[in-house]
Amino acid sequence: MTPLTAVLAAEISAGGPIPFRRFMETALYHPGHGYYRRASDPFGKDGDFFTAEQLQPVFGRLMAALAGSLRDKMGGAPEFSLVELGAGRMEMAPAFSAFNYIPVEKERGEMPERFTGVVFANEFFDALPVDLLAARGGTWREMLVGWREDRFHWVEGDEAAPRQLEYARRYLPAPEEGTLLEVNLDALEWLERVASRLERGWVIAIDYGYTARELIRFPEGTLMSYRRHTALEDVLSEPGGRDITAHVNFTALMDRAMELGFAHTRLERLVQTLMTVGEKDQFASALAAGSDAERTRLTLQLKTLLFGMGETFRTLLLGKNVRQ
Ligand SMILES: C[S@@+](CC[C@H](N)C(=O)[O-])C[C@H]1O[C@@H](n2cnc3c(N)ncnc32)[C@H](O)[C@@H]1O
Repeated sequence: MTPLTAVLAAEISAGGPIPFRRFMETALYHPGHGYYRRASDPFGKDGDFFTAEQLQPVFGRLMAALAGSLRDKMGGAPEFSLVELGAGRMEMAPAFSAFNYIPVEKERGEMPERFTGVVFANEFFDALPVDLLAARGGTWREMLVGWREDRFHWVEGDEAAPRQLEYARRYLPAPEEGTLLEVNLDALEWLERVASRLERGWVIAIDYGYTARELIRFPEGTLMSYRRHTALEDVLSEPGGRDITAHVNFTALMDRAMELGFAHTRLERLVQTLMTVGEKDQFASALAAGSDAERTRLTLQLKTLLFGMGETFRTLLLGKNVRQ
């Protein structure tokens, strides 16, 4: 039993089933026992998963080149900051050191009040806690988590709150009975925060996710749990012992971005982004190495990025007060 199993079981036993959002937030971010707050490291080959950020230096070099080209498009912008949301292990720090790099993590680092530049977010939005709704009898009900016979289990709650209902009706207007849908209002709130502080510049968000048109492919929702590089569907077991993610609704982010004054939005596969950045010099600067062995290692990183992650991840580019 993980320490958080006891914490959450006690909470449910005292007050009844809790919203899934509360379960996910506690499982990932409980101080001390949350998956991202424990002493042991979830990232990398000995951990549970790896992200593109662990493919250094190639990913860092390519993303720094992308940020640099966006800065050039803005006419050089002397006061240019590179803010990273969910900087994790700070793996982008060496690559972004040529910029005024501001990493933002839970309780570490703050987004500036006003700035010009780029907001970079790799696998940030998919790690935010979500509400889970179920389509039932022509409306949406909130899914809760209960505790019985030493196990967590799903409990169908009341009709969802107005904001969640509005979101669900907008993105899935005619769901099949029983369809599950995650509602990520935190992602929209983060975008609002960014929009209110970014005077001029770009957001680069890399994640896996879907557009509203593709949502129909996920009648069981997209919640996923990771342990030792294996995707598991039971997100309720071992809270704090495994990652929990939800695919990002890119249409919802783009819609909100347009409402918030972003004028350019572009969604593409990560491989396309990497090819555009790398093609300028046929990836020569991304693969620059001091030895043949090093060059082999970097070539492998590039292949993993292009042919592995590049196909499953997408890049969302949002521009505010900039020319395309
Ligand atoms: C899946 S990890 C990705 C880390 C890193 N970007 C990478 O690609 O390796 C998500 C990160 O977002 C951070 N995060 C989640 N909620 C946050 C918040 N409200 N403020 C700042 N960081 C947050 C987590 O602590 C975690 O490090």
